[in-house]
Amino acid sequence: MNCLTPIHDFLLKNANKGEIRAYMPGHKGYENPLDITEIKGADSLYEAEFFSDSPGIIAQSEKIASGLFSSVQTLYSCSGSTLAIQTMLALAKENSPGKRTVVAGRYSHRSFINSCILLDIMPRWVYPKSFISAEISPSDIENAIDDDTFGVFINSIDYYGGMSDIKGISEVCRKKGVFLLVDNAHGAYLSFLPGMHPISLGADMCADSAHKTLSVLTGGAYLHIGNKLFCNNAKNVMALFGSSSPSYLILDSLDRFNKTATENKDRVKIVSDMVKGLKDFAADMGYSLYKSDPFKLTINCLDAGYTGNEFAALLKEYNIECEYGDKEKCVMLFGWNTEKKDIEHIKSALGDIKKKSPIKKSFYSHIYARAVTSPREAYFKAKEIIPTLNAGGRICAESISPCPPGIPLIMPGENIDNDTARAIYDYGIEKIKVNIS
Ligand SMILES: Cc1ncc(COP(=O)(O)O)c(C=O)c1O
Repeated sequence: MNCLTPIHDFLLKNANKGEIRAYMPGHKGYENPLDITEIKGADSLYEAEFFSDSPGIIAQSEKIASGLFSSVQTLYSCSGSTLAIQTMLALAKENSPGKRTVVAGRYSHRSFINSCILLDIMPRWVYPKSFISAEISPSDIENAIDDDTFGVFINSIDYYGGMSDIKGISEVCRKKGVFLLVDNAHGAYLSFLPGMHPISLGADMCADSAHKTLSVLTGGAYLHIGNKLFCNNAKNVMALFGSSSPSYLILDSLDRFNKTATENKDRVKIVSDMVKGLKDFAADMGYSLYKSDPFKLTINCLDAGYTGNEFAALLKEYNIECEYGDKEKCVMLFGWNTEKKDIEHIKSALGDIKKKSPIKKSFYSHIYARAVTSPREAYFKAKEIIPTLNAGGRICAESISPCPPGIPLIMPGENIDNDTARAIYDYGIEKIKVNIS
């Protein structure tokens, strides 16, 4: 491949033509001259022929991305990992006639449960050791797989930066003859560290949000395929869920990132080293840190005397906006463009805050809830909204997922007992949708 940015080159050339734009979009280039729709020569996202001998510009660009991520095929998504997750679940189900169950980590993102609703998939949950953790053991997964199971779905990296043993889980999946699908929304960058990306660890398919950690516009993501069984129908299936007007600005951004990555092969290592330096500094200052992936710093704020939300508010006084704060933890997420001066500024803020820390706080645990109906049945059945504290004994009709992290505390179809109702209420949810029986 001679040129690294086939989409960008086409868009630039088109912008400089000075033609009358008698085609969509309505802004005619005035909002942004690179923004177009599928005109002649621009290829078409859901029809781009990856395996063709004369691929169009999108397929050419996807091939370059596939080389960078060592996949069998890479598909661009302009609707985030959400679209990639819908697509991979639909592809896995389509290739497993008569089966309906996916074994999944309990703290999967709501895009997973929404896909289960759309596709009538029955999730079977495997609990990790702690709340919102990806650390699920291969043996727990193996025990949960039965004859109705067609896939295993895990989220690794999780919101706090925890990671699963993907290699171990992929060996279990191979042994049991089920597909391994990985929500790697937070870990697109792992491809640039040796042996860490889910595709290189044996995943059949994997969803990466390019926009979360790479230098790509919001909405840009990849569906990576590691098992050629899925290549044939992947584009068709993605078209079922995606907008018929995918953004060329997002495609342009994904396309230009291929060049950036090719020319800056050590960038991820540089950022990882900076973050490692920050982690060492914070630990030396006496902060208690969670083990987290190379692009995250996750602080146990209770040990420093604050809730995660309070800590995030303190950081804001230093002009630092965190990715996430909750009752316990505060997460800072770094990315391709994180600079040394940002890390130095965070170090000095952490040092200042530490000097003023009050005494430590504590709490927190899982919410255990039993599934009574499928998520789909509960979601589409008649429902009413009631005060959460009165919901004991009722069946939940929605995903209650404070965002971020967008991970449901309770799913549609699950029984709410009094303890669960209290825990959800304590999370700040005062009303809840329940099924009318
Ligand atoms: C773990 C996880 N999976 C999937 C998604 C969906 O990704 P996207 O926003 O790229 O659609 C998110 C979004 O925050 C997420 O945190």
